[in-house]
Amino acid sequence: MQDALLLSARPGIIQFSLGLPSPDLFPVEVVTAAFADLLSRGSSPLQYGPPTLTLKSHIVSLMRTRGVECTERQIFLTNGAQQAVYLIVGILLEQGREVIAEELCYPGFQQIIGFYKPEILTVPSDRQSGMDVERVEWYLERGARPAFIYAIADGHNPLGTTLSDEKRQRLITLCCRYSVPIIEEDPYGFLSYREGAMPPLKARQADLVFYVGSFSKILAPSLRIGWLVVPEKYIPYLAILKESLDIDTATLSQHLAARMLDSGFLSQHLARLCSAYKCHRDTMLAGLSACFPDGSQWSTPDSGVFIWVQLPEAFDATHLLKTAVDGYGVAFMPGSAFCIRRNDTTAHSSLRMNFSYPSTDLIKEGVLRLGAMFAATTLGRTNGLNQNREHIANPWAG
Ligand SMILES: Cc1ncc(COP(=O)(O)O)c(C=O)c1O
Repeated sequence: MQDALLLSARPGIIQFSLGLPSPDLFPVEVVTAAFADLLSRGSSPLQYGPPTLTLKSHIVSLMRTRGVECTERQIFLTNGAQQAVYLIVGILLEQGREVIAEELCYPGFQQIIGFYKPEILTVPSDRQSGMDVERVEWYLERGARPAFIYAIADGHNPLGTTLSDEKRQRLITLCCRYSVPIIEEDPYGFLSYREGAMPPLKARQADLVFYVGSFSKILAPSLRIGWLVVPEKYIPYLAILKESLDIDTATLSQHLAARMLDSGFLSQHLARLCSAYKCHRDTMLAGLSACFPDGSQWSTPDSGVFIWVQLPEAFDATHLLKTAVDGYGVAFMPGSAFCIRRNDTTAHSSLRMNFSYPSTDLIKEGVLRLGAMFAATTLGRTNGLNQNREHIANPWAG
């Protein structure tokens, strides 16, 4: 993961590797106005301060738009979703306990639990409907009592999947039957590209689902504001743990975000993000169809910012990354970066492609270049793929 990040951070590289928001879609004017207004009212946002109630109220309203009913007293503000997961894992996981997680899993989560050295009971994931809930049931029926199940129901990182309605219900039934909590990470759930998006798991079970939200992908990651929605009794423990880490969530950021949300711009902003990212997604999908090797597979993500591509097995994505960066100026994240088991070879021919950060023009250029790279590999040549990217039909023409 670190090697891939270093490679892709070189200037001039077309970036498909990280889950960054588009720099063209930051609400710069709203930030500027909110900032000026905030500081014209006094210097208190520059002081240490308790969690901002106004911001919590905005989050309560935001959660309601996804079908989650909660109160300000159940909201815990954090420095991003990453810290939220860190804190809730710290509360739920003791050394030596088991956890259930998918075989392909967000590396930030793996780093957090690594400290506790838990036994990870891994479950496979279907590329359309998400986590294999039958396997979860299999573990629980055989007596496993994990500290929690880790799930991303919408805009899965890295797979881009949406957990099906049936699986959501079954997962909730299982967590209730066996009293096993779920940590539901949802940084991408507000970026939905289809009509009638499903409510998160939290909307179906209030007590056992620990919900993690974030403004990183929908306002700006530099605000570093995330939140937990948890049963109220956990809040004091979270507060103690967080105070030992960093005292509080940056007061200035909290007030700034609250001021921005006061203006009521968010619903319009979300609509703009969803429409733009849907266009990015479709541009990338068209390019993959035209330029990637025959036999490659991917699914259309309904939410989030990633497409998971399965190349024909003979391709090694980890190996190809260096060629892609050095020879073609394009970076992606090889699937192996997400494997929980280091010796898992199933993901070696997969890659995660981000479509939110690059503009549609860069998406076109980057996918064409990758197509040329695949064609130029020995494998591409033996499969008769075009070696010259001028020969690849332009999928965006007309
Ligand atoms: C699943 C997941 N969790 C957490 C994060 C980090 O979010 P934040 O910036 O809110 O800490 C990301 C960002 O890429 C993510 O994909």
